[in-house]
Amino acid sequence: MASIIQTRGLTRRYGRQVAVDRLDLDVQEGEIFGFLGPNGAGKTTTILMLLGLTEPTEGTARVLGHDPTHDPMPIKRQVGYLPENVGFYDDLTGRENLQYIAALNEIPESQARAKIDAALATVGLAEEGDKIVGAYSRGMRQRLGIAELLVKDPRLLILDEPTLGLDPDGTLRMLELIRDLNRSRGITVMLSSHLLDQVQRICHRVGIMIQGRLVAVGTIEELARRKLGDAAGPSLEEIYMRYFKET
Ligand SMILES: Nc1ncnc2c1ncn2[C@@H]1O[C@H](COP(=O)(O)OP(=O)(O)OP(=O)(O)O)[C@@H](O)[C@H]1O
Ligand SMILES: [Mg+2]
Repeated sequence: MASIIQTRGLTRRYGRQVAVDRLDLDVQEGEIFGFLGPNGAGKTTTILMLLGLTEPTEGTARVLGHDPTHDPMPIKRQVGYLPENVGFYDDLTGRENLQYIAALNEIPESQARAKIDAALATVGLAEEGDKIVGAYSRGMRQRLGIAELLVKDPRLLILDEPTLGLDPDGTLRMLELIRDLNRSRGITVMLSSHLLDQVQRICHRVGIMIQGRLVAVGTIEELARRKLGDAAGPSLEEIYMRYFKET
């Protein structure tokens, strides 16, 4: 299988602090990869480097075969990126926000309408598309954030804490939406989270980042076996706490 994201020795320092420390990461085409770790672990910094929004101090990255530092445009075109805080024009409707994004991405108006209708339907906002975003709940905003990415027909989604601030029902709906996009359209997904028990429901593999270092990568079963000698029992939460205590 091909790596859609590959980093080697990827490092980002802020002054003396090492936010990301010699990261070797491979995300395979077609998978849902969970990028896990506590606050300050370096998840967002890594994502920003993958998108060419922050420059590495050392090391290399390839996303869809391109170098994000020197050749970010093809990455920006093909990757849907959901930032930690999704921004919208609150006085425009959901649909108008998507129209704006479609125009920014130079999608012809003749195609934009159908794409926007389809994206709103996919995220469950068909009924709410004509309400102003200022009146959206947090969960609706997050789903509009995904709709915005879908308008671009991305090959890869990079989602930074997509369930942040959602209630249990909203979280479940968001995770199911992500799983559906992966299954029905074959979109590769890398998502960051510190909510382990939720993420383990949909991720094929996870990587655990602690203090800038990737301390473990694999399927949940592999990590459990390696760490606790038990493939069936422990939750990701327990595995993660083991790694956390050792670091
Ligand atoms: N622009 C910056 N300037 C200085 N330090 C930074 C900057 N961005 C991040 N850092 C530091 O780098 C470390 C990693 O931060 P990062 O935001 O990547 O963590 P994270 O894993 O995304 O955390 P969270 O779960 O809280 O979002 C932190 O210690 C943070 O303070
Ligand atoms: Mg972050």
